[in-house]
Amino acid sequence: MIEAKNLKKVYETKVSKGLFKKEKALVNAVNDVSIRINKGEIIGFLGINGAGKTTTIKMLTTLISPTEGSYYVDGIDAIKNPMVIKKKINMVAGGERMIYWRLTAYENLWYYGSLYGLDSKLLNERIDELLKLVGLYENKDKKVEEFSKGMKQRLQIARGLINDPEYLFMDEPTLGLDAIVSKELRKHIKSLAKEKNKGILLTSHYMEEVEELCDYIYILDKGNIINQGTAKELAKDAFSHINLKLSLYNEGYNFKEHLLKKLQEEDNKVKIILKEGYYNIESTKDLRVEISEFCNKNEILIKEIFKIEPRLEDIIIKLSNTRKVPN
Ligand SMILES: Nc1ncnc2c1ncn2[C@@H]1O[C@H](COP(=O)(O)OP(=O)(O)OP(=O)(O)O)[C@@H](O)[C@H]1O
Ligand SMILES: [Mg+2]
Repeated sequence: MIEAKNLKKVYETKVSKGLFKKEKALVNAVNDVSIRINKGEIIGFLGINGAGKTTTIKMLTTLISPTEGSYYVDGIDAIKNPMVIKKKINMVAGGERMIYWRLTAYENLWYYGSLYGLDSKLLNERIDELLKLVGLYENKDKKVEEFSKGMKQRLQIARGLINDPEYLFMDEPTLGLDAIVSKELRKHIKSLAKEKNKGILLTSHYMEEVEELCDYIYILDKGNIINQGTAKELAKDAFSHINLKLSLYNEGYNFKEHLLKKLQEEDNKVKIILKEGYYNIESTKDLRVEISEFCNKNEILIKEIFKIEPRLEDIIIKLSNTRKVPN
């Protein structure tokens, strides 16, 4: 299990003051982040631009050290023993960083594998296995510069798996990929957790991806975890009201007013708005039973009635106290 507690990172930078003068400035990139990752789980790490996700991942992959906080991987102090931890973890970043275009897929993996001091027989076997896993085996001797974006990204995943890590950090792994390639990559990511039992932390600005993949989600805002839970739990927290949609085959005179009056007996805050053929009913509790009873009694036939689950995107916007929209 990965357990990071109260991680904080303050960057020291220089800002120009006038033409020639530079002054030291401190940036609080991460304030207080506590995270847990179990093997076999995919953890979502979400937040708007600049929230501190990449900085946290850099601390968790021991690329930079935290200003404060503790970080343990399977009981080993990762801050004191980064070299031990590096064998247990790896990272996959989106975009086209960390692979060498002039080298072939095979040579890239050979290079990264040799950094881990793997013996050449084992390394060869592993490279073949990984290239097969990500569907690049037929292209193993092709130079990466001839690869499409999707192929490069699949090679990134293979690179991230070269040391057979127990935990994998994925920073926007499907960035800039088309829908079909992303879908395929998501399948790989899911099977890494569910079939190969790896613990995965994933950041993404694509909410459907997070909803589909993540067992548990942390929401980061201005360097602090502001909420955590399953997508369902977060929705409950962000939206205290329930939204129902109702459509009818027939309706009597003044249906809306009569229904409203009836439902107000249960919830005096209930609102009903008719929009595009649907009655949108917002209330503090689920009124489906009361609505059905009312319709039955008045011989009104319900075509459809369903609850609208809020989208993760809306939840993040609501929970992050800024108006910026994740892109
Ligand atoms: N090397 C650095 N030196 C100084 N400040 C930095 C450095 N790296 C990041 N920051 C600042 O720290 C804050 C958090 O940045 P970070 O890249 O961790 O955010 P993020 O959540 O990954 O954002 P995005 O969604 O845009 O990738 C930002 O204000 C950023 O400008
Ligand atoms: Mg980032």
